[in-house]
Amino acid sequence: MTSESAANMESMGQFLELNTGDRMPVLGLGTAVWNQYEEIKSAVTVALQVGYRHFDTASFYGSEGAVGAALMEAFQSGFVKREQVFVTTKLWGDEHDDPLAAISRSLKNLQLEYVDLYLVHWPLRLKKGCSNPPKEEDFLPLTMKSTWQGMETCFEMGLTKAIGVSNFSCKKMEDLLSHAKILPAVNQVEMHPMWQQKKLRDYCSKMKIQICAYSPLGGRNTRWGSSMLMDNPIIHEIAQKHGKTISQVLLRWGVEQGVCVLPKSFNKGRITENFQVLDWCLTAEDRENINKIEQWKIVRAEIHVNSTTGPYRTLEELWDGEI
Ligand SMILES: NC(=O)c1ccc[n+]([C@@H]2O[C@H](COP(=O)([O-])OP(=O)(O)OC[C@H]3O[C@@H](n4cnc5c(N)ncnc54)[C@H](OP(=O)(O)O)[C@@H]3O)[C@@H](O)[C@H]2O)c1
Repeated sequence: MTSESAANMESMGQFLELNTGDRMPVLGLGTAVWNQYEEIKSAVTVALQVGYRHFDTASFYGSEGAVGAALMEAFQSGFVKREQVFVTTKLWGDEHDDPLAAISRSLKNLQLEYVDLYLVHWPLRLKKGCSNPPKEEDFLPLTMKSTWQGMETCFEMGLTKAIGVSNFSCKKMEDLLSHAKILPAVNQVEMHPMWQQKKLRDYCSKMKIQICAYSPLGGRNTRWGSSMLMDNPIIHEIAQKHGKTISQVLLRWGVEQGVCVLPKSFNKGRITENFQVLDWCLTAEDRENINKIEQWKIVRAEIHVNSTTGPYRTLEELWDGEI
Protein backbone atom coordinates (compact mmCIF):
# COMPACT_ATOMS: atom_id res chain seq x y z
CA MET A 1 0.00 0.00 0.00
CA THR A 2 2.69 2.46 1.07
CA SER A 3 4.44 3.57 -2.10
CA GLU A 4 1.25 2.86 -4.01
CA SER A 5 -0.82 5.19 -1.85
CA ALA A 6 1.86 7.86 -2.02
CA ALA A 7 1.80 7.43 -5.80
CA ASN A 8 -2.00 7.70 -5.72
CA MET A 9 -1.70 10.91 -3.80
CA GLU A 10 0.68 12.18 -6.47
CA SER A 11 -1.54 11.19 -9.37
CA MET A 12 -4.63 12.70 -7.77
CA GLY A 13 -2.81 15.98 -7.30
CA GLN A 14 -3.24 15.81 -3.56
CA PHE A 15 -0.48 18.25 -2.84
CA LEU A 16 -0.85 21.95 -2.23
CA GLU A 17 1.67 24.32 -3.70
CA LEU A 18 3.06 26.87 -1.25
CA ASN A 19 4.12 30.39 -2.19
CA THR A 20 7.71 29.14 -1.90
CA GLY A 21 7.11 26.77 -4.85
CA ASP A 22 7.40 23.71 -2.57
CA ARG A 23 4.58 21.19 -2.27
CA MET A 24 2.82 20.14 0.90
CA PRO A 25 0.80 16.89 1.15
CA VAL A 26 -2.83 17.83 1.73
CA LEU A 27 -3.21 15.34 4.59
CA GLY A 28 -0.92 15.23 7.59
CA LEU A 29 -0.80 13.49 10.96
CA GLY A 30 -1.27 15.65 14.07
CA THR A 31 0.83 14.83 17.13
CA ALA A 32 -0.37 17.18 19.89
CA VAL A 33 -0.05 14.65 22.68
CA TRP A 34 2.08 14.95 25.77
CA ASN A 35 4.32 12.35 27.44
CA GLN A 36 3.53 9.42 25.16
CA TYR A 37 6.84 8.84 23.41
CA GLU A 38 6.26 5.23 22.36
CA GLU A 39 2.66 5.84 21.24
CA ILE A 40 3.68 8.83 19.11
CA LYS A 41 6.63 7.00 17.57
CA SER A 42 4.53 4.00 16.74
CA ALA A 43 1.71 6.17 15.29
CA VAL A 44 4.17 7.93 12.98
CA THR A 45 5.59 4.57 11.85
CA VAL A 46 2.12 3.22 11.16
CA ALA A 47 1.13 6.42 9.36
CA LEU A 48 4.19 6.19 7.11
CA GLN A 49 3.20 2.63 6.21
CA VAL A 50 -0.35 3.77 5.45
CA GLY A 51 0.98 6.48 3.13
CA TYR A 52 1.11 9.69 5.21
CA ARG A 53 4.01 11.92 4.22
CA HIS A 54 3.21 14.96 6.34
CA PHE A 55 3.70 15.26 10.11
CA ASP A 56 2.73 18.16 12.34
CA THR A 57 4.61 18.65 15.59
CA ALA A 58 5.68 21.55 17.84
CA SER A 59 8.30 22.21 20.48
CA PHE A 60 5.39 22.81 22.88
CA TYR A 61 3.95 19.31 22.36
CA GLY A 62 7.20 17.61 23.31
CA SER A 63 6.48 15.19 20.45
CA GLU A 64 9.42 16.23 18.25
CA GLY A 65 11.73 13.54 19.68
CA ALA A 66 9.30 10.69 19.01
CA VAL A 67 8.40 11.98 15.53
CA GLY A 68 12.10 12.33 14.70
CA ALA A 69 12.96 8.86 15.97
CA ALA A 70 10.25 7.24 13.84
CA LEU A 71 11.33 9.21 10.77
CA MET A 72 14.99 8.40 11.30
CA GLU A 73 14.20 4.67 11.43
CA ALA A 74 12.21 5.00 8.20
CA PHE A 75 15.05 6.90 6.49
CA GLN A 76 17.69 4.44 7.68
CA SER A 77 15.71 1.43 6.53
CA GLY A 78 15.27 3.07 3.11
CA PHE A 79 11.47 3.03 3.45
CA VAL A 80 11.26 6.74 2.58
CA LYS A 81 13.74 9.47 1.81
CA ARG A 82 13.92 12.73 3.74
CA GLU A 83 12.76 14.71 0.71
CA GLN A 84 9.58 12.62 0.47
CA VAL A 85 8.40 13.69 3.91
CA PHE A 86 6.99 17.08 4.96
CA VAL A 87 7.65 18.04 8.57
CA THR A 88 6.17 21.05 10.36
CA THR A 89 7.21 22.29 13.76
CA LYS A 90 6.46 25.46 15.70
CA LEU A 91 7.97 28.25 17.77
CA TRP A 92 6.37 28.40 21.22
CA GLY A 93 5.50 31.66 23.03
CA ASP A 94 8.58 31.54 25.25
CA GLU A 95 10.85 31.13 22.23
CA HIS A 96 9.95 34.39 20.43
CA ASP A 97 13.13 36.18 21.51
CA ASP A 98 15.40 33.72 19.67
CA PRO A 99 13.78 31.75 16.82
CA LEU A 100 17.20 30.64 15.59
CA ALA A 101 18.07 28.96 18.90
CA ALA A 102 14.54 27.53 19.04
CA ILE A 103 14.64 25.96 15.59
CA SER A 104 18.10 24.56 16.33
CA ARG A 105 16.68 22.80 19.42
CA SER A 106 13.72 21.52 17.40
CA LEU A 107 15.98 20.18 14.64
CA LYS A 108 18.12 18.41 17.22
CA ASN A 109 15.01 16.82 18.74
CA LEU A 110 13.80 15.82 15.28
CA GLN A 111 17.26 14.59 14.15
CA LEU A 112 16.76 16.64 10.97
CA GLU A 113 18.88 19.17 9.13
CA TYR A 114 15.84 21.20 8.10
CA VAL A 115 12.09 21.26 8.56
CA ASP A 116 9.68 21.92 5.72
CA LEU A 117 7.64 24.46 7.62
CA TYR A 118 8.31 26.48 10.78
CA LEU A 119 5.35 28.29 12.31
CA VAL A 120 4.89 30.93 14.99
CA HIS A 121 2.57 28.79 17.14
CA TRP A 122 0.45 31.64 18.61
CA PRO A 123 0.51 35.44 18.43
CA LEU A 124 1.69 35.31 22.01
CA ARG A 125 5.00 36.04 23.75
CA LEU A 126 5.65 34.44 27.11
CA LYS A 127 8.35 34.42 29.78
CA LYS A 128 10.99 31.73 29.28
CA GLY A 129 10.04 28.37 30.74
CA CYS A 130 6.67 29.55 32.03
CA SER A 131 4.04 27.06 33.03
CA ASN A 132 1.06 26.05 30.95
CA PRO A 133 -1.46 27.57 31.22
CA PRO A 134 0.59 30.75 31.64
CA LYS A 135 0.11 32.72 34.84
CA GLU A 136 -0.80 36.42 34.81
CA GLU A 137 2.83 37.46 35.18
CA ASP A 138 4.02 35.20 32.29
CA PHE A 139 2.57 37.32 29.45
CA LEU A 140 4.89 39.74 27.61
CA PRO A 141 4.08 42.30 24.95
CA LEU A 142 4.06 40.76 21.47
CA THR A 143 7.02 41.92 19.35
CA MET A 144 6.12 40.30 16.04
CA LYS A 145 8.52 42.43 13.99
CA SER A 146 11.60 41.00 15.68
CA THR A 147 10.06 37.52 16.01
CA TRP A 148 9.39 37.49 12.28
CA GLN A 149 12.90 38.73 11.49
CA GLY A 150 14.16 35.74 13.48
CA MET A 151 11.87 33.44 11.48
CA GLU A 152 13.20 34.98 8.26
CA THR A 153 16.76 34.25 9.42
CA CYS A 154 15.80 30.58 9.98
CA PHE A 155 14.50 30.49 6.40
CA GLU A 156 17.51 32.27 4.93
CA MET A 157 19.85 29.86 6.70
CA GLY A 158 18.05 26.91 5.11
CA LEU A 159 16.90 25.53 8.47
CA THR A 160 13.33 25.58 7.22
CA LYS A 161 11.96 25.49 3.67
CA ALA A 162 9.06 27.77 4.57
CA ILE A 163 7.91 29.96 7.44
CA GLY A 164 4.42 30.75 8.59
CA VAL A 165 2.09 31.43 11.48
CA SER A 166 -0.68 29.76 13.39
CA ASN A 167 -3.79 31.14 15.09
CA PHE A 168 -3.48 34.49 13.30
CA SER A 169 -6.66 36.48 12.51
CA CYS A 170 -7.00 38.58 9.32
CA LYS A 171 -6.01 41.63 11.35
CA LYS A 172 -2.86 39.95 12.68
CA MET A 173 -1.99 38.74 9.17
CA GLU A 174 -2.35 42.30 7.86
CA ASP A 175 -0.08 43.63 10.59
CA LEU A 176 2.50 40.95 9.80
CA LEU A 177 2.36 41.58 6.06
CA SER A 178 2.98 45.27 6.67
CA HIS A 179 6.56 44.52 7.77
CA ALA A 180 7.37 40.99 6.53
CA LYS A 181 10.27 40.74 4.09
CA ILE A 182 9.41 37.09 3.47
CA LEU A 183 5.70 36.31 3.24
CA PRO A 184 4.28 33.61 5.50
CA ALA A 185 3.56 30.49 3.43
CA VAL A 186 0.93 29.10 5.81
CA ASN A 187 -1.54 30.08 8.51
CA GLN A 188 -2.47 26.99 10.55
CA VAL A 189 -5.83 27.53 12.23
CA GLU A 190 -8.82 25.66 13.56
CA MET A 191 -11.03 24.78 10.62
CA HIS A 192 -13.85 22.29 10.05
CA PRO A 193 -17.54 22.43 9.00
CA MET A 194 -18.47 24.06 12.30
CA TRP A 195 -15.79 26.76 12.04
CA GLN A 196 -15.34 27.34 8.35
CA GLN A 197 -13.14 30.46 8.51
CA LYS A 198 -14.55 31.98 5.30
CA LYS A 199 -13.21 35.50 5.91
CA LEU A 200 -9.72 34.30 6.83
CA ARG A 201 -9.64 31.86 3.91
CA ASP A 202 -10.60 34.58 1.44
CA TYR A 203 -7.94 36.88 2.82
CA CYS A 204 -5.22 34.21 2.82
CA SER A 205 -6.13 33.01 -0.64
CA LYS A 206 -5.80 36.58 -1.97
CA MET A 207 -2.37 36.86 -0.33
CA LYS A 208 -1.25 33.39 -1.56
CA ILE A 209 -1.03 32.06 1.98
CA GLN A 210 -2.09 28.44 2.45
CA ILE A 211 -4.50 27.50 5.24
CA CYS A 212 -3.84 24.31 7.21
CA ALA A 213 -6.76 23.01 9.28
CA TYR A 214 -6.00 21.91 12.81
CA SER A 215 -8.52 20.03 14.96
CA PRO A 216 -10.32 19.04 11.72
CA LEU A 217 -12.35 16.51 13.76
CA GLY A 218 -13.14 19.04 16.48
CA GLY A 219 -10.42 17.73 18.79
CA ARG A 220 -12.61 15.16 20.52
CA ASN A 221 -11.12 13.93 23.83
CA THR A 222 -8.50 16.68 23.90
CA ARG A 223 -8.25 19.40 26.58
CA TRP A 224 -9.19 22.06 24.03
CA GLY A 225 -11.68 20.15 21.86
CA SER A 226 -15.20 18.82 21.90
CA SER A 227 -17.29 16.00 20.46
CA MET A 228 -19.93 18.45 19.19
CA LEU A 229 -18.58 18.35 15.63
CA MET A 230 -18.48 14.56 15.42
CA ASP A 231 -22.00 14.44 16.88
CA ASN A 232 -23.44 16.81 14.27
CA PRO A 233 -26.57 15.25 12.64
CA ILE A 234 -25.91 16.82 9.20
CA ILE A 235 -22.48 15.19 9.07
CA HIS A 236 -23.97 11.87 10.24
CA GLU A 237 -26.55 11.97 7.46
CA ILE A 238 -23.94 12.66 4.78
CA ALA A 239 -21.69 9.89 6.12
CA GLN A 240 -24.54 7.41 6.02
CA LYS A 241 -25.48 8.40 2.47
CA HIS A 242 -21.95 7.81 1.15
CA GLY A 243 -21.17 4.78 3.32
CA LYS A 244 -18.29 6.75 4.85
CA THR A 245 -17.39 7.52 8.46
CA ILE A 246 -18.00 10.86 10.22
CA SER A 247 -14.29 11.52 10.26
CA GLN A 248 -13.96 10.82 6.52
CA VAL A 249 -16.73 13.30 5.72
CA LEU A 250 -15.11 15.99 7.89
CA LEU A 251 -11.68 15.47 6.34
CA ARG A 252 -13.02 15.20 2.79
CA TRP A 253 -14.82 18.52 3.26
CA GLY A 254 -11.52 20.16 4.27
CA VAL A 255 -9.64 18.66 1.32
CA GLU A 256 -12.34 19.89 -1.07
CA GLN A 257 -12.01 23.39 0.37
CA GLY A 258 -8.39 23.39 -0.79
CA VAL A 259 -6.87 23.31 2.67
CA CYS A 260 -4.47 20.90 4.28
CA VAL A 261 -6.06 18.77 7.03
CA LEU A 262 -4.16 17.51 10.08
CA PRO A 263 -6.15 14.83 11.94
CA LYS A 264 -4.54 13.26 14.98
CA SER A 265 -5.05 9.58 15.64
CA PHE A 266 -2.76 7.06 17.28
CA ASN A 267 -5.02 4.14 16.47
CA LYS A 268 -4.01 2.08 13.43
CA GLY A 269 -7.57 1.58 12.17
CA ARG A 270 -8.42 5.27 12.50
CA ILE A 271 -5.08 6.40 11.02
CA THR A 272 -5.96 4.28 7.98
CA GLU A 273 -9.59 5.41 7.89
CA ASN A 274 -8.56 9.07 7.98
CA PHE A 275 -6.26 8.58 5.00
CA GLN A 276 -9.08 7.26 2.82
CA VAL A 277 -10.43 10.65 1.84
CA LEU A 278 -8.55 11.30 -1.36
CA ASP A 279 -10.54 9.22 -3.85
CA TRP A 280 -14.20 10.18 -3.44
CA CYS A 281 -16.25 13.39 -3.46
CA LEU A 282 -19.00 15.14 -1.59
CA THR A 283 -21.92 16.36 -3.71
CA ALA A 284 -22.98 19.97 -4.19
CA GLU A 285 -26.00 19.17 -2.00
CA ASP A 286 -23.71 17.86 0.77
CA ARG A 287 -21.71 21.07 0.63
CA GLU A 288 -24.87 23.18 0.78
CA ASN A 289 -26.07 21.25 3.81
CA ILE A 290 -22.68 21.62 5.49
CA ASN A 291 -22.89 25.37 4.88
CA LYS A 292 -26.07 25.42 6.98
CA ILE A 293 -24.21 24.21 10.09
CA GLU A 294 -24.25 26.86 12.79
CA GLN A 295 -20.75 28.27 13.26
CA TRP A 296 -19.04 27.82 16.60
CA LYS A 297 -15.33 28.09 17.35
CA ILE A 298 -14.36 25.13 19.48
CA VAL A 299 -10.73 26.02 20.30
CA ARG A 300 -11.26 29.40 21.97
CA ALA A 301 -8.00 29.55 23.96
CA GLU A 302 -9.29 31.35 27.05
CA ILE A 303 -5.95 30.46 28.67
CA HIS A 304 -4.26 33.05 26.45
CA VAL A 305 -6.43 35.86 27.69
CA ASN A 306 -6.03 37.76 30.95
CA SER A 307 -7.39 41.04 32.11
CA THR A 308 -4.22 42.51 33.63
CA THR A 309 -0.84 41.68 32.07
CA GLY A 310 -1.62 39.97 28.76
CA PRO A 311 -1.77 41.64 25.36
CA TYR A 312 -5.28 40.18 25.03
CA ARG A 313 -7.75 41.13 27.74
CA THR A 314 -10.70 39.41 26.10
CA LEU A 315 -11.31 36.65 23.56
CA GLU A 316 -12.51 39.39 21.17
CA GLU A 317 -9.05 40.95 21.36
CA LEU A 318 -7.22 37.65 20.91
CA TRP A 319 -9.22 36.87 17.77
CA ASP A 320 -9.71 40.51 16.70
CA GLY A 321 -13.48 40.13 16.77
CA GLU A 322 -13.30 37.23 14.31
CA ILE A 323 -14.99 34.84 16.74
N1 LIG B 1 -1.51 25.20 15.80
C1 LIG B 1 -2.26 24.96 16.85
O1 LIG B 1 -2.45 25.82 17.75
C2 LIG B 1 -2.92 23.62 16.98
C3 LIG B 1 -3.98 23.45 17.89
C4 LIG B 1 -4.59 22.20 17.96
C5 LIG B 1 -4.13 21.16 17.14
N2 LIG B 1 -3.08 21.35 16.28
C6 LIG B 1 -2.57 20.26 15.40
O2 LIG B 1 -3.67 19.63 14.77
C7 LIG B 1 -3.67 18.24 15.12
C8 LIG B 1 -5.08 17.67 15.14
O3 LIG B 1 -5.92 18.39 16.00
P1 LIG B 1 -6.44 17.82 17.40
O4 LIG B 1 -5.41 16.90 17.98
O5 LIG B 1 -6.87 19.01 18.18
O6 LIG B 1 -7.76 17.02 17.10
P2 LIG B 1 -8.50 16.22 15.92
O7 LIG B 1 -7.54 15.68 14.95
O8 LIG B 1 -9.59 17.10 15.45
O9 LIG B 1 -9.16 15.05 16.76
C9 LIG B 1 -8.38 14.13 17.45
C10 LIG B 1 -9.31 13.21 18.24
O10 LIG B 1 -10.16 12.51 17.34
C11 LIG B 1 -9.97 11.11 17.52
N3 LIG B 1 -10.05 10.49 16.18
C12 LIG B 1 -9.14 10.56 15.18
N4 LIG B 1 -9.56 9.91 14.09
C13 LIG B 1 -10.78 9.42 14.40
C14 LIG B 1 -11.73 8.65 13.69
N5 LIG B 1 -11.49 8.26 12.44
N6 LIG B 1 -12.88 8.32 14.32
C15 LIG B 1 -13.13 8.71 15.59
N7 LIG B 1 -12.26 9.45 16.33
C16 LIG B 1 -11.10 9.80 15.73
C17 LIG B 1 -8.61 10.94 18.15
O11 LIG B 1 -8.55 9.77 18.94
P3 LIG B 1 -7.57 8.50 18.61
O12 LIG B 1 -6.15 8.97 18.67
O13 LIG B 1 -7.91 7.57 19.73
O14 LIG B 1 -7.98 7.98 17.27
C18 LIG B 1 -8.54 12.18 19.03
O15 LIG B 1 -9.21 11.97 20.25
C19 LIG B 1 -2.96 18.22 16.48
O16 LIG B 1 -2.57 16.93 16.85
C20 LIG B 1 -1.83 19.19 16.20
O17 LIG B 1 -0.82 18.57 15.44
C21 LIG B 1 -2.49 22.57 16.18
